[in-house]
Amino acid sequence: MDLTTTYMGLKLKNPIIVGASPLTATFDSIKKLEENGAAAVVLHSVFEEQINYESREIDHFLFKGSESYAEAIGYFPEVTLSNLESEDYLKEITRLKANISIPVIASLNGVSKGGWIKYAKKLQEAGADALELNITYIPTDTDTEARDVEQLYIDALKAVKEHVSIPVGVKMNAYFSAPAQMAKKLVDAGASGLVLFDRPVHVDIDLEDLNSIQVINKSSSKDLSETLRWSGILYKKLDVSLCASTGVHSHEDILKAIMSGADAVQMVSALLQNGAGHLQNVLNDLTAWMEEKEYVSIEQMKGSISLAHTSNPAAYQRANYMRILTEFRF
Ligand SMILES: Cc1cc2nc3c(=O)[nH]c(=O)nc-3n(C[C@H](O)[C@H](O)[C@H](O)COP(=O)(O)O)c2cc1C
Repeated sequence: MDLTTTYMGLKLKNPIIVGASPLTATFDSIKKLEENGAAAVVLHSVFEEQINYESREIDHFLFKGSESYAEAIGYFPEVTLSNLESEDYLKEITRLKANISIPVIASLNGVSKGGWIKYAKKLQEAGADALELNITYIPTDTDTEARDVEQLYIDALKAVKEHVSIPVGVKMNAYFSAPAQMAKKLVDAGASGLVLFDRPVHVDIDLEDLNSIQVINKSSSKDLSETLRWSGILYKKLDVSLCASTGVHSHEDILKAIMSGADAVQMVSALLQNGAGHLQNVLNDLTAWMEEKEYVSIEQMKGSISLAHTSNPAAYQRANYMRILTEFRF
């Protein structure tokens, strides 16, 4: 069975990339993921706040929209909170490249045009095969225009692209008014890959402390829907690799993502819940399903049920949305 695929020009032995998380924060954990079949890893993010903290250059912009800072803080692995040493991250990449054979994608998380952008070059020099940008900005100012927020993403991507020659992917969120056009703008600005989608840190209210809190909720397969929708819509529309992320837990989820048009998938919650051995089970189940249905390769099924190819394009459009709602009976 040919499970190989290509993502952002990187040859992968199968479609499963382990996404940015504590799973990809230590050498030993990454080694274990490789042994269990991971095709690539996205390292846990280095945050603008970490890099700029060290260089004492925190951009005032971060404090203007302090929510972006809070959002980022929600993601900080505890280990790095007390040890903000972005040099260590570089050393870890070099060590990984010497000891593992799967591609290593570094992850940069930031919003401003501050000094952190230059760090991208250091990641490339350390040996990263590609970069993933997570640009999370949550505008709370009622006067901020959507166009300005979009421009922030484009500017950050362009600035990073000026410093590196390795492929750069962008982990998008699904909250833009026109995600398809935003995807096009990112591709025009130089994105080689789009990760659909980031899973924001959730907001909740602590009723004992009477305070708002941020929590990380793990996903389930039920969270795959937006990823399938937008993979299916964007497939073949843009010259870019697509990576399905959020809600990929089982071999069925991978099949759906690939048939929708994804080139690869990212997995995090499923591995946090079930351990690295889950990768082997999913790969075995994926191969068994493909053999039973007489598929010979991942390539063969890519985009087969996307907007461009489905026999039911209405599934992606408003007409079907109206029918589903009006025909529902209880
Ligand atoms: C504990 C935890 C830490 C995470 N850390 C990061 C991070 O450092 N950078 C990032 O871009 N995404 C981070 N994420 C988001 C994941 O990479 C992924 O996008 C999200 O969990 C959705 O995928 P899933 O449904 O497979 O879990 C984190 C997620 C979790 C659960």
